[in-house]
Amino acid sequence: MSADVLNTYQSAVAHLLNESANAGLMTPFINDLKNYLGNITSISTDLDMNDWNDENTSQGVAISPVQAAKCTEETLRTQIFMQGVKLAIEERLKTTTDDIHILYAGTGPYGTLLIPYLSVTKNPRIKVTLIDIHPENISAIKKLINHFSINQNITSIVCDDATRWQAPESQQFDIIISETMTALLKREPQVFIFAHLCQYLSGTGTLIPQKVSLRAWLTPFTSLIPLKGKRNTDILLKEFYCLDIDEAKRLNAADNSSFKGRMQIPNGVETNYRLKLTTDIQVYKHCKLTENQCSLNIPLTFLPHNAELRGGEYINFEYITPHSADFVFTFPIKKIIKTKIKLTKFSELNNLGLPGVKHMFEHAQAAKCGCSINIDENEWTQWTNLLDSLALPYHETSVALYQSQRIEEFEAWLSTNSNLTLS
Ligand SMILES: C[S@@+](CC[C@H](N)C(=O)[O-])C[C@H]1O[C@@H](n2cnc3c(N)ncnc32)[C@H](O)[C@@H]1O
Repeated sequence: MSADVLNTYQSAVAHLLNESANAGLMTPFINDLKNYLGNITSISTDLDMNDWNDENTSQGVAISPVQAAKCTEETLRTQIFMQGVKLAIEERLKTTTDDIHILYAGTGPYGTLLIPYLSVTKNPRIKVTLIDIHPENISAIKKLINHFSINQNITSIVCDDATRWQAPESQQFDIIISETMTALLKREPQVFIFAHLCQYLSGTGTLIPQKVSLRAWLTPFTSLIPLKGKRNTDILLKEFYCLDIDEAKRLNAADNSSFKGRMQIPNGVETNYRLKLTTDIQVYKHCKLTENQCSLNIPLTFLPHNAELRGGEYINFEYITPHSADFVFTFPIKKIIKTKIKLTKFSELNNLGLPGVKHMFEHAQAAKCGCSINIDENEWTQWTNLLDSLALPYHETSVALYQSQRIEEFEAWLSTNSNLTLS
């Protein structure tokens, strides 16, 4: 490895650790970092993910080594976690003259959140225990430790399941790091890793991330075409789950009461709103990741077609575990008054002067309410002829038809996506 290549790596780490988080400006440094670590470990982010297996544990999925390596490519996630870890370590070092002890569970092949920092800091007072469930990650981490000559920082490297691992007698840690999560704490075992490992955290110790906050909002069912400059009018319903040290301790004491709950729907939101779920991560103090900054913060917006947001009633939620955890929501069910529905005639024109649109829209709405009415063959031919003449794809048009809450919304979609020229 040439001195130039090493310099490029060290400079990348310095930029990532010390400069403001910025997805655009920092990406070249992320590339330098992952290329260097990929080279040393022989686990490159360019390898085909299909050749590597996840490990399905009883407490969640441990993603494969290549997929874990690829996490490094999420610039803001990686940079903000690296900076949060650095801040927590440096604050801790100032409060004591003793060594500080860190447990890092789920290192992946690069130990991205900590190894690059150790490689440029070379502070012998930092003592680290590293755990991963994949033997390939453990071999890769050993290569990095030897390469960077940071053996003095390493207490032990363990290939084990972090939800079961037992620390040596009386071992306590000042900092426990784990990023084993996806948005909404689905699938991966973050909750159960913290629930188990928190018993080894010293009284004044910190978990990283410090807090994962899941919130539920009502968000307007806006047009399929986002309106420019429209104010965000989301209504916060509730923080429905929060993973922090208190919750980890409750879970460790077998109290999982926070896995289940409900939230009340306010009055006045009966129509045109859907449920939006967000994930905010406080890595450490001001180092935070919020909506849309990385895959861990992608919001989920939905409303089952048979659900109805009725003011005063409740949305129930439950964290369904184990294996592949997920929050499941149940809504008030639509009260359907089954009357015989009479649809507008196919020939009737809509606001754009097109036949069939009103008819097909009413048809889709009726189907969403559980009233299935057959489309006669002749109407279907007329409809597909109309779509052909407007150069509209059948599948996308059906999706838009069903997703639209109002006919105006579907008409706006038609105007944007067809070759229709409006006078
Ligand atoms: C999302 S990756 C993160 C990798 C790296 N820490 C980073 O932030 O870039 C999660 C890692 O945790 C490991 N992991 C998941 N569940 C685990 C478990 N129960 N015990 C030990 N390691 C686990 C996976 O093998 C994977 O390497």
